[in-house]
Amino acid sequence: MRVLSGIQPSGELHIGNYFGMMKPMIEYQETSELFCFIVNYHAMTSVSDGPKLAWGTVQVALDFIALGMNPDKATFWVQGDVPEVTELTWVLNNVTPVGLLLRSHSYKDKTAQGIAPNHGLLSYPVLMAADILLYQGERVPVGKDQQQHLEITRDIAIRFNATFGDTFVVPEAEINPNIPLVVGIDGRKMSKSYDNTIEIFCEEKELKSKIARIVTDATPIEAPKDPAKCNVFINISLFLNEEEKAELAARYRKGGVKYSDVKKELFARMWEHFRPAREKRKQLENDIDQIRAILKSGAEKARAKAAPTLDLVRKRVGLAY
Ligand code: ADP
Ligand code: TRP
Repeated sequence: MRVLSGIQPSGELHIGNYFGMMKPMIEYQETSELFCFIVNYHAMTSVSDGPKLAWGTVQVALDFIALGMNPDKATFWVQGDVPEVTELTWVLNNVTPVGLLLRSHSYKDKTAQGIAPNHGLLSYPVLMAADILLYQGERVPVGKDQQQHLEITRDIAIRFNATFGDTFVVPEAEINPNIPLVVGIDGRKMSKSYDNTIEIFCEEKELKSKIARIVTDATPIEAPKDPAKCNVFINISLFLNEEEKAELAARYRKGGVKYSDVKKELFARMWEHFRPAREKRKQLENDIDQIRAILKSGAEKARAKAAPTLDLVRKRVGLAY
């Protein structure tokens, strides 16, 4: 099975990104043909500082490799090193109704936040469809916030196949039913755009202060509490096994739980969980040229895999003559 997903280099990665996308992707490299890429063309819709985008791209690569992405097992590259994806985007533009793009939640949210509604932002989902269809991706692990983008991709693939003949695999989103969306420190969906994130590779002091800021209610210590409604419980659950989770939930229901104690425990769990990756990342930081070389060779592999699809597309639409 071809499993594929991408992530934007538009800021430091957080535990929502990790549990929603990075962890399932890293696991898939053992069982599937895995395509994983850093979407710097997409990030241009929100980052307009060149050095920042270039720096962020290398940082995401470091994060992924430190967390276990193995470039010998997976195809791992930077989107902009395979410019063929922009050619496919142009082709797909011609089967994409503007109305479909105007209905995108992400477009509506971003323009409501005051971000200029330029053409890049509107056609973001077409580029994403090209990312997926160029490699004939079958399964796409993402967080629930990307579900609509996947539906748009499917719609575009179906329209193209109906117009020009069977060409693309129609992909499916894979959303972890147990962790559809990781909750941020303010109780909303964790997201870079809400300033409510807990970064994977946060410094120790900052991590403690972020966890201390997780919003809790004013229930007295001795009162029974509903674990499902507690942002600290929801977050620590990500780092507990089933038995530990059940035990902590029972303590909540019984009463006597002090939020500050659970916060300390959350810090300890998370710090330990990412310790090996943190140490590996420190080493990798000493040889950024090696990271660049890995990405460039990944792009060569990706290009070779994209070529047959693009040849077929060019034939189907009449660009080959
Ligand atoms: P952000 O919302 O912080 O900008 P991105 O849109 O760059 O995050 O998301 C990158 C990947 O991480 C996507 O697959 C997305 O679905 C996933 N993801 C982001 N936030 C969360 C979250 N809070 N819970 C689960 N998955 C998430
Ligand atoms: N839109 C995705 C996000 O913000 C990133 C992305 C771009 C992507 N191309 C993709 C995800 C292809 C999956 C497949 O998270």
